[in-house]
Amino acid sequence: MDKKSQINLEKLPRHIAIIMDGNGRWAKERGMARVFGHRNGVKAVREATESAAELGVEYLTLYAFSTENWNRPEMEVNALMALLVDTIKKEIKTLNDNSIRLQTIGDIFKLPEKSRKALLKAIEDTSHNTRMTLVLALNYSAKWDITEAARKLAIQVKRGSLQPEDVNEDVFSNALATAGMPDPELLIRTSGEARISNFLLWQIAYAELYFTPTLWPDFRKEHLYDAIINFQHRERRFGKTSEQLTGS
Ligand code: FPP
Repeated sequence: MDKKSQINLEKLPRHIAIIMDGNGRWAKERGMARVFGHRNGVKAVREATESAAELGVEYLTLYAFSTENWNRPEMEVNALMALLVDTIKKEIKTLNDNSIRLQTIGDIFKLPEKSRKALLKAIEDTSHNTRMTLVLALNYSAKWDITEAARKLAIQVKRGSLQPEDVNEDVFSNALATAGMPDPELLIRTSGEARISNFLLWQIAYAELYFTPTLWPDFRKEHLYDAIINFQHRERRFGKTSEQLTGS
């Protein structure tokens, strides 16, 4: 039986998040500059997006640039930004052909103007699509997200439009960059590292974590299927006992 047909489409994660890692090592293994790895990572972005949409996943969030990534050599940061603009512009038609809506999380107002404009245009041009939402985390970090949410709520309290006793988990979730999206049920990280790296800390409270040694540029549809099959074999207890879930 091929991998795709082993997936139970009734039990798909509604939201998958991916920490795309290993581009630099993939390039190094080939004696090439890190940027070569990022360029080859775009094919994996396309494969992950296409396969998630084909299966019926509703949200796919990709960690494309963290707030910490600004500390990389200037040449690499510039190359990543250029690659982003170039890819977004090239892929708008494919996103529309497949009814995929683009969104971002993160402080995109600190990105170079050219990147921000290309992104805002792509978000606008794909806003009518309904099959899947592709969320790019750009200049994103979870601590930034949580701090911004706290600041937004503090401003509302100061203005008198929110009472401190009305702050609860739902109110807090709705102040985060991911407001309105279901929390990711499956978080994948490539390249063998077993870290979260400041990604969606609040939202992954109950996500299943899946770490694969595959380097991001090598990630293909089968790797996504493997992750989903693995997810579907796990018992998700949400604090309950196994017996409570099975009724035994
Ligand atoms: C991590 O690998 C990868 C990134 C920081 C960037 C991901 C970017 C892309 C795949 C290209 C464009 C993306 C889009 C959405 C168009 P790393 O450089 O940390 O690898 P290493 O750990 O081996 O050094």
